[in-house]
Amino acid sequence: MANIAVVGTQWGDEGKGKIVDLYTEKSDIVARFQGGNNAGHTLVIKGKKTILHLIPSGILHDNKICIIGNGVVFDPAVFLQEIEELQEGNLLPPNTKLFISEKAHLIMPYHRSIDQARESRTAGKKIGTTGRGIGPAYEDKVARIGIRVGDLYEEDLFREKLRHNLEEKNFLLTNFFKEKSLDEKEITDQYLDYAQKIKSYVTDTSLILDHEIKQGKKVLFEGAQGSHLDIDHGTYPYVTSSNTVSANASCGSGIGPNIINKVVGICKAYTTRVGEGPFPTELKDDIGNHMQQVGQEFGATTGRKRRCGWLDMVLVRQSVRVSGINMLAITKLDVLTGLEKVKICVGYKSANGNFTHAAPASIKALSECQPVYEEFDGWKNDIRYAREMSELPANTRKFLKRLEELAEAKIILVSVGPGREETIVLEDPFLNK
Ligand code: GDP
Ligand code: IMO
Ligand code: MG
Repeated sequence: MANIAVVGTQWGDEGKGKIVDLYTEKSDIVARFQGGNNAGHTLVIKGKKTILHLIPSGILHDNKICIIGNGVVFDPAVFLQEIEELQEGNLLPPNTKLFISEKAHLIMPYHRSIDQARESRTAGKKIGTTGRGIGPAYEDKVARIGIRVGDLYEEDLFREKLRHNLEEKNFLLTNFFKEKSLDEKEITDQYLDYAQKIKSYVTDTSLILDHEIKQGKKVLFEGAQGSHLDIDHGTYPYVTSSNTVSANASCGSGIGPNIINKVVGICKAYTTRVGEGPFPTELKDDIGNHMQQVGQEFGATTGRKRRCGWLDMVLVRQSVRVSGINMLAITKLDVLTGLEKVKICVGYKSANGNFTHAAPASIKALSECQPVYEEFDGWKNDIRYAREMSELPANTRKFLKRLEELAEAKIILVSVGPGREETIVLEDPFLNK
């Protein structure tokens, strides 16, 4: 019996939501372990679209346990709104349980204000964050001044922490950023109200995971963002503020690393990026427009147009390495249909003319890298109805075979459309092989 981590191999939006929803069928527990509501995970079931930002993508299945782990930064307002929307859509199954770690750090209004103020101040140098307060919330966690979900239930402690933090944050907001100061009473009342509303979900989620795993239950760890947005391994500083790689599934949910048996990497058949930062295979031409429009590449959180480009195996290979990816799920292959030629970037030519298989850590050096491509003949037939590899055109299979060789990881799933059923399943990752 396997426990699996599902992580993105690119810059996010690879289709993790769809794949996690699909794999939830075979698992008992789905746990988010990092990030917050900067994530936007899209699920399309019977043509109906649901976008989840904070709640794990297993929530639409019955008889499951969904966990928001300690590594997540938690915005209670977003959580409550998401619950409300699921309830309104009659989408919350009766027997699925949802838990929030008492150790998860809260996103506070000043985190959002600082995030947004910093981004608008640094014109020309901004990261292009989602503005949801993610970075500032993680900063406070590491600075040991963060407020945890569990702190809400020690009212005196909560009030004291908030007062102490607001003193510093309001000074920064008003004097440095020239923004409005935030009102202590308003935030206190608001968060104590949230505390009551979320109380039934808050617990020690590490204990739940441990208990369930000992019963032989299968866990799916749902990554957010992608490996190249990882704070250590991504294109720093154009990254998010958490470790997005699979190793953090352990730290961010409170179980040992030996519990995770396999890692599935989600890889889009081309590359996208939202926000700033280098992107060697970016296409600012008709082909890039094709990907953007056919792939409906708009940010699921901010609605921003996603930048698009060819599949970059330098990035994917690095993700395979840093996340220990054994298996790949390829998504959005259908979006390439109709293109005369399709390309895969197999390496970079650096500014000094050298060929490299690895992305340089220097942002300047990476920005100067020129992609080196292998070119393939495209395919014209609609592949959205394919449910077996044999139903794919020969050129499509050739493209996948080369991708697999370059990644040195096995393709176990190919997604040919946003719907749950628009999928070619090759292997069940939960089965031990
Ligand atoms: P995530 O953040 O990794 O969960 O990905 P997003 O949900 O932000 O973005 C992926 C988008 O592609 C969503 O709109 C999905 O519905 C859609 N999608 C997922 N898989 C496929 C696929 O195979 N083909 C097409 N055309 N769309 C897909
Ligand atoms: P999912 O889980 C794509 C990007 C932002 C910005 C950078 C930092 O849906 O794949 P942040 O608000 O995290 O401080 O922003 O990271 N970013 C994402 N891009 N998908 C995401 O999540 C992202 N979450 C953050 O656009 O460039
Ligand atoms: Mg997304």
